[in-house]
Amino acid sequence: MGKAAIVYYSMDGNTRQIAEAIQAATGFPIARLDTVVPYTGTDQEIIAQGQEEVNRGFRPELKPLDLRPEDYETLIVGTPTWWYTMASPVLSFLTQVRWEGKTLVPFQTHAGWPGHGLEDMARACRNARVLYPKAIRFNARQFGKMETPRAELERWIDQLKAL
Ligand SMILES: Cc1cc2nc3c(=O)[nH]c(=O)nc-3n(C[C@H](O)[C@H](O)[C@H](O)COP(=O)(O)O)c2cc1C
Repeated sequence: MGKAAIVYYSMDGNTRQIAEAIQAATGFPIARLDTVVPYTGTDQEIIAQGQEEVNRGFRPELKPLDLRPEDYETLIVGTPTWWYTMASPVLSFLTQVRWEGKTLVPFQTHAGWPGHGLEDMARACRNARVLYPKAIRFNARQFGKMETPRAELERWIDQLKAL
């Protein structure tokens, strides 16, 4: 069994940026979640669709993942914030994994209103041990511009190297 792997969903690249920084520092395998039905439309339409999906706890069907979660002791799972919680593709993933004996390291990117995303991720992973939950703030207007200080991010990533 491998030690740890990184799994993330990212619509606009912020969460991917963090996932790739973890990958670069740790060398852990990385895989991106993707939905069978792509999200399309204007920003406003996608935001409304996200709200509707989050409100009814919708779990979109995912494409096959590039790695097997059962092969890893720890999964570092990243999500954007959608309406104060995790994005619905991440809910799909977390509820597919058998968490007995596994550790979840949840991280969440947001634009100022993280809500209860990290708590909801932990709750979705019954029986998982949860370590080092982390919220990372990005600029609300400029994608890719992190507001959390880089040193703070690096300290968090340093802890993950020891997993
Ligand atoms: C459907 C939708 C809902 C969102 N809801 C929130 C929210 O509740 N709080 C927040 O801070 N940001 C919210 N955002 C902004 C994203 O969480 C933020 O930009 C995130 O870093 C994007 O990650 P990504 O680039 O990996 O997709 C929302 C974005 C979308 C598309």
